[in-house]
Amino acid sequence: MRTPASRRAEGALLRLRVQPRASRDEILGWQDGVLRVRVTAPPVEGAANAAVVALVARALRVAPATVHVVGGKSSRDKRVRVAGLTDADVRTRRRREEQPGQACARGRPDRCRRANPPRVKPDNSDNFLSPVWWADDRLMLVDQRLLPAEELDRAYGRWEDVADAIRTLVVRGAPAIGVAAAFGVALAARQSRATTFDALLGDLEAAIKGLAATRPTAVNLFWALERMRRVALASVGVPLDRVTARLLTEAQAIRDEDIAANRALGTHGAALVPANARILTHCNAGALATAGFGTALGVIRAAHAQGRVDRVWVDETRPVMQGSRLTAWECAREGIPHTLIADVVAASLMARGQVDLIVTGADRIATNGDTANKIGTYALAVLGRHHRVPFYVAAPFSTIDPALASGEHIPIEERDPAEVRRVGAQQTAPATSPVFNPAFDVTPAALITAIITERGVFRPPYDFA
Ligand code: MRU
Repeated sequence: MRTPASRRAEGALLRLRVQPRASRDEILGWQDGVLRVRVTAPPVEGAANAAVVALVARALRVAPATVHVVGGKSSRDKRVRVAGLTDADVRTRRRREEQPGQACARGRPDRCRRANPPRVKPDNSDNFLSPVWWADDRLMLVDQRLLPAEELDRAYGRWEDVADAIRTLVVRGAPAIGVAAAFGVALAARQSRATTFDALLGDLEAAIKGLAATRPTAVNLFWALERMRRVALASVGVPLDRVTARLLTEAQAIRDEDIAANRALGTHGAALVPANARILTHCNAGALATAGFGTALGVIRAAHAQGRVDRVWVDETRPVMQGSRLTAWECAREGIPHTLIADVVAASLMARGQVDLIVTGADRIATNGDTANKIGTYALAVLGRHHRVPFYVAAPFSTIDPALASGEHIPIEERDPAEVRRVGAQQTAPATSPVFNPAFDVTPAALITAIITERGVFRPPYDFA
């Protein structure tokens, strides 16, 4: 009879998927019962298998000496025997690994758990948070709908799914939406089966149209799509695989430039922050709303790094709670002193002299400085004027719409009434009560003290030329 002891002596058998020629040895995670790893060398005999053994041992927390590669269908699909464990032991450990905060696998828009937080994305600095990046031929997005309760990355291989992710707020925030859409176009080129340039262009135009139809207010979306279109149009006569590669390079450039812009505007903005500042911000204009670092929260990050921040007042930002769910989460993660407030508290805080400045992001800025941002921003600007608290907008140039002379024509998204009739899963209003739920409002330039960009600080009358 086979007993647990005899099964242990036999050893557990597990399947392994090996991705060779990676930049480093790493565990990608479990997917459908298969452990996925990446190794620098091809998994043949000898040294390469040593890397595989070390990774399996680490994933299962066993001694490398107990792990034996026993063959498999190919050099990528391996079978591994682990002495001292039963198959049930492996299943238990695997389930533990699949809990939030563990290794990340890739998929369609698969659920894909994050590696050890805090996350280090393919950028150069430690503790760098980015909600949008490219890995393994997929667009990766942090699912912002689940934060702060769950940290989950999703992998996207089709532009249609990226459009859906933008529409449903998996990715949100003006610059982040633009970056995601750019990668969506890069994916469309990869999805295309076109054999001629014109046919490829047709597929790309369909994707651009679909991505543009997701959310109307953030101009960064249309700006990024236009950049992608220009790259495609300029590639006439270029072999189609090169066009596809160029589009990916452009999307990467849009991402990189956004991070650089945010760092630069953070530095410009920090110079406006007095010592021991108490700063009020609204919505989330942080790393999560951009490719990284953030706009309004980028200014706060930079000022905090210089020791100037006493406290950040974080508006919870009804009804989608980007302030409490995302901004407070970013501040907590980085040790930025912050206090969460219900949106209705801002006025009395200003009346008591407890706010030194207000800084928000923007979704679209007209050439006269009128600024669309998260609903509630206008109210803060009015309060700021009344209480003599400076009101700053922080945004990259990609948020300025050169085609709009003033804010009156900025399209304002209206969202699902259900967002207002409930808080989370809790119904807080009769299901039949009519709702008005604009996602953004427009703050007139006259109420804005200055607009902070990567090219410096602009003051009224605005001239961004
Ligand atoms: O509806 P959202 O969450 O996409 O709205 C985001 C905002 O309003 C942000 O303040 C804005 O996009 C600036 S992001 C740097």
